[in-house]
Amino acid sequence: MSAEPLAYEEQPDEDRSRYRGVLRFYELAKHQEWLVRDLPWGEIAPVPEGRGSPQRQARRRDVWRSVVMQQLQADVLACEMASQLLNAAPDPEAKLYYSTMVQDESRHTEAWLKLIGQLGGEGERDPHLDTLGHMFLEADTLEEKVFLMQVFFERLIIPRFRLIARSSRGTILEDLCNRLAIDDGIHHGAGMAYERVLLEGASQKVKDELIVAANRMLPEFAAHALWRPKAREMIGHLMEARDRERLKTELDHGVRLANSLGLDISEVALPF
Ligand SMILES: [Fe+2]
Ligand SMILES: [Fe+2]
Repeated sequence: MSAEPLAYEEQPDEDRSRYRGVLRFYELAKHQEWLVRDLPWGEIAPVPEGRGSPQRQARRRDVWRSVVMQQLQADVLACEMASQLLNAAPDPEAKLYYSTMVQDESRHTEAWLKLIGQLGGEGERDPHLDTLGHMFLEADTLEEKVFLMQVFFERLIIPRFRLIARSSRGTILEDLCNRLAIDDGIHHGAGMAYERVLLEGASQKVKDELIVAANRMLPEFAAHALWRPKAREMIGHLMEARDRERLKTELDHGVRLANSLGLDISEVALPF
């Protein structure tokens, strides 16, 4: 008999079928893998180009830079979070999946760094995003980390990518946002699949804590979604009503997701 540990698919006595869903997302992630150099750098504009006076163009560029900065900040935090998940997950199928998520988040970061380099460098940080990052990183249980990051955050962020893509047609930014919407769709799906398995064996106490965590996170996510740096303050005011409307729909959806995981969501309070 060999002293080498058996790979997960060779373990005869243990039924691993519960993890099939997670494994499916591992395969999907491998299939969807892309490289930063696949983007048409230098062939098309990084972000939409402004018209009018040089001052006006500079102002436009600052607006786009702030959009890119917020996503860069989110993906740097996601790198830390994904590697925490890789380290914390005890199941081989989940570890395999998280090894791809670490690569995704770090590829996203690389792309944002390249993009912001073409826009004059980093800008103002979104303080709410930093707070959200701390909540994820300091969450006590694996169930809570998966719940906050993959079930909520990565799902709630997808419509934002679509929105940015729609307003930046024909640019690197559009291309990148479309790729990230797909990647985060996989991250979210994998999180749902894994959280379902984790909650099968979880105590009521762990489940109750997820609701508490959701209540802590949702108002902060709302603040993050509505936050505007100085460069976008003007546009921010013009769009606020529409943003709130959209955000409410997204948060409602987040609550339904918790429900589909079998959590009692009657205690979740929406920030509006
Ligand atoms: Fe990402
Ligand atoms: Fe992600």
